[in-house]
Amino acid sequence: MANARLTAIGMAVPRKKVPNAYFESIIDTTDEWIVSRTGIKTRYHVEEGEFTSDLCVRAVEDLVEKYPTSLEDVDMILVSTVTPDQPMPSMACRVQHRLHMSRAGALDIYAACAGFSYGIVVAKGLIAGGLHKKILVIGAETLSKVTDFSDRTSCVLFGDGAGAVLIEADPTGNIGACITGASGEGGSDLYISGYASTIDGHELKMNRCIVQNGRRVFKWAVTTVAAEIKNLLAKNNLTLGEIDWFVPHSANLRIIEAICNETGFSMDKVLESVVDFGNTSSASIPIALYNGIQSGKVKHGDRIMLFGFGGGLAYAGTIITW
Ligand code: UT7
Repeated sequence: MANARLTAIGMAVPRKKVPNAYFESIIDTTDEWIVSRTGIKTRYHVEEGEFTSDLCVRAVEDLVEKYPTSLEDVDMILVSTVTPDQPMPSMACRVQHRLHMSRAGALDIYAACAGFSYGIVVAKGLIAGGLHKKILVIGAETLSKVTDFSDRTSCVLFGDGAGAVLIEADPTGNIGACITGASGEGGSDLYISGYASTIDGHELKMNRCIVQNGRRVFKWAVTTVAAEIKNLLAKNNLTLGEIDWFVPHSANLRIIEAICNETGFSMDKVLESVVDFGNTSSASIPIALYNGIQSGKVKHGDRIMLFGFGGGLAYAGTIITW
């Protein structure tokens, strides 16, 4: 069975930075409420005509710039998103075409905020099964396109962005045992009512937006993630004390704090992306990991627990050694 190694990472966000003050100007809210209830200070939004595939391409370009590698021998592209430019072609096919990866298969994954972690699980499995050797896993979203800007309970939360990692067959594998799961009965607590599309370059505004029962999702996330972390650690024969960094999905700083309280993990060892980028769903984990690595916090040999959770309600986790 071939081992899989996460070898490189890149990210991208749109140029437009949106501070909390923007929401003070359009809805009944305050910077103080947003920061104290969510931790979020800023997020980035795409401009008209800028799409998820654009962010995917930029994240992969950043990956190649930071960790020079050829894209020619990439043999599979997995893109996790709930905000594709359009339902067909897939984002993975668009990225395959735009970055000239003619040898690569292409597949999108729909597991919302757990999608990037699911992508790593799938990539590891494809490599272990001997089917593929060099896989790009991308988490990318343009959530601002499916945000109801009149709903103050949700519109302040979401941001746009993308993160990409390369996973390669390598005898020195660094991706540990994984867990996946879902509480499908909670699907109606968090969903998108429609989707965006384009025809001849013109964006069609369909009746689409994220609808959520924030309190229910909050409670589910804390209970489920805290319990499943124990299973993940057990599967890897590790204790919490042996984990250097925890990268949960960055939905809300208070959710992360509650998970840490519940499990006894220190917030000092958390890598998050919610404060500066908002909740970027599929992109939140790679963006947090990228910034942890770029800032020098994450050292070679560190053990990092990734745990995605969200719409579905779905979750997936694994432990990598950087
Ligand atoms: O990626 C996964 C996707 N989603 C999530 O993970 C969301 C999980 N849930 C959450 O993050 C939180 O539940 C929210 C941030 C959505 C809400 O925070 P909360 O502390 O659970 O607030 P709440 O819904 O209990 O509302 C408390 C109060 C309410 O007012 P009343 O009824 O007490 O008078 C809301 O109307 O805060 C009010 N409120 C706001 N006030 C100012 C809700 N949104 C806002 C707002 N500004 N933007």
